[in-house]
Amino acid sequence: MAITLAFDVYGTLIDTHGVVTRLESLIGDKARAFSHTWRDKQVEYAFRRGLMQMYEDFSICIRDSLNYACELHETPMSVRQKQELLDLYRELPVFDDVREGLALLSGASYRLFAFSNGTRDDVNSLLGNADIEDYFLDVISADSVRSFKPNPAVYCHLLRETESAGCDSWLISSNPFDVIGALSAGMRGIWLQRSHDQVFDPWGFKPTIRISSLRELEGQLARFLTHK
Ligand code: LAC
Repeated sequence: MAITLAFDVYGTLIDTHGVVTRLESLIGDKARAFSHTWRDKQVEYAFRRGLMQMYEDFSICIRDSLNYACELHETPMSVRQKQELLDLYRELPVFDDVREGLALLSGASYRLFAFSNGTRDDVNSLLGNADIEDYFLDVISADSVRSFKPNPAVYCHLLRETESAGCDSWLISSNPFDVIGALSAGMRGIWLQRSHDQVFDPWGFKPTIRISSLRELEGQLARFLTHK
């Protein structure tokens, strides 16, 4: 069976802190802390909406967490400035290892999917803007099951949509909660540790493979599959 590779999007392919330069022009040296609050809160809001069964799509989590960050950092913004930031969020840049990492995989017989909490529309915008959409067979969004990672239903949806078996399917994510979600749903999980100070949650799960750049992905996967 062909191997399925499901790539998380925000924080894995796409640099969510790509808004910092624009933020600096709006709020000066609060920009970096603001960007971290904005990202952390959008993930928290998705978790909470999932648990409370109060589903609104991920773009609402992004919008609400932007409003939260403005209040927390005492940086009021006009409706227009907020809309400009939300528009930028649909055009965030990819990390600099992404194109090379994907290109290295394209010669092999892997089936690549983008797999995100983000809506299809937002993910298509991000991939198209970065000119990497052709690497992927499809975009699989948690929005189709009106929930968010790490709900097991979201990983089951991925396996169903891609007609894949868990043991032949790999999630690649920089988000430890996502890797643990995939492992506990019977998939294999690759943790992309994007910074040295990132910690993998001590829940008794270990990523099948750990990498620090997408450039390592093809080599590490090939090694694992050869020695399996
Ligand atoms: C995503 C978030 C979890 O793209 O990063 O699904």
